[in-house]
Amino acid sequence: MRKKFELYARKFPQDHISAHLTRLRELDISRKDPCHFYRKRDFVQAFGVNILNVVPHSLEGGFYYPNVIAGEYTATAISPIRYLMNQIRPDTAAIVEFGSGWSANLFQLYVGLGATVSRKIDYHGAEYTDEGQQTATEMAAYDKNINYYAHSFDYRKPDVSFLNGYGGHILAFTRHSIEQVDEISPLLYDQLGALKAAVTLVHLEPVGWQTFSSLVARRTADDVEFFEAIGARVAAGVVEPQAKTPDPKYKRMVQAENAAWWSWRMNYNTNLFSIISGNRRANKIKMIAQEVDFAAIGNVLNPTTLFHLEFIKEPSTRDGHALEHVSA
Ligand SMILES: C[S@@+](CC[C@H](N)C(=O)[O-])C[C@H]1O[C@@H](n2cnc3c(N)ncnc32)[C@H](O)[C@@H]1O
Repeated sequence: MRKKFELYARKFPQDHISAHLTRLRELDISRKDPCHFYRKRDFVQAFGVNILNVVPHSLEGGFYYPNVIAGEYTATAISPIRYLMNQIRPDTAAIVEFGSGWSANLFQLYVGLGATVSRKIDYHGAEYTDEGQQTATEMAAYDKNINYYAHSFDYRKPDVSFLNGYGGHILAFTRHSIEQVDEISPLLYDQLGALKAAVTLVHLEPVGWQTFSSLVARRTADDVEFFEAIGARVAAGVVEPQAKTPDPKYKRMVQAENAAWWSWRMNYNTNLFSIISGNRRANKIKMIAQEVDFAAIGNVLNPTTLFHLEFIKEPSTRDGHALEHVSA
């Protein structure tokens, strides 16, 4: 990626960083408030609401919007970058991505928020590889205006001390990087919870299958037979296997099984959801939003789930929604 960026920077030296982002990966900020049309016009409101029933979601939620794909009404999720942009507060002092790669997400946020707002925000890319840190540092230097800092970071031995000095609010997020680590250290949550600043943490990770206790049990037992049978089904191209007994949840379960199989095959993460559940039970965090398997860019077998959390400063309030395993 670094070589590609250097090539593009030489070839298109006058281009804004957004053009380089587009060439290197994507600039996916998506429309602001795509449900606005249905909310403001009474005569189409019920129509929009009924389309969103497939999710199910409301027009106010703003995460999904009514859409048409290949001739059929359906719901589509907004871009994760837009979702993250919406979490910026007037007192946001820093944005950090853990497992940031070359910080494609942070640079997209910077482009979306703009250089003026970003004057009072520090961007931190906390990344495992030197290559990722170096490429991001070069891109930041190319831009000249962004307050960007690269850090060496490992989910197995987390150290967020670079965030110690901040007051106000910190937006922290992860995107398909916890997936890479079979077991992350729970210390990440302890460290974020101990920061002086208010912390919002958004995970965008392919761990939706972890909300099914039966699949967690199969993974814990390393049930090779079970996972190989799913692998054979996928390899045969079977998208919707026939249910032995009619059950409306069957299609949903098959999709989750396929994702669990992919995670098992790749030796991907197993413990994010249990860390979240433990912290909730201990009243250390509050769940603001949860969107299981909302989209899959690139690989439908590795779909993204969103967990949006706030750290509780005084462990006194408990949020009312149960976050228990979905029994399958
Ligand atoms: C699929 S990439 C995603 C990168 C970035 N989050 C994005 O969305 O473009 C996975 C990232 O996880 C990082 N990663 C792998 N092992 C890690 C670890 N132990 N600690 C932190 N990051 C890790 C990789 O270096 C890589 O940047």
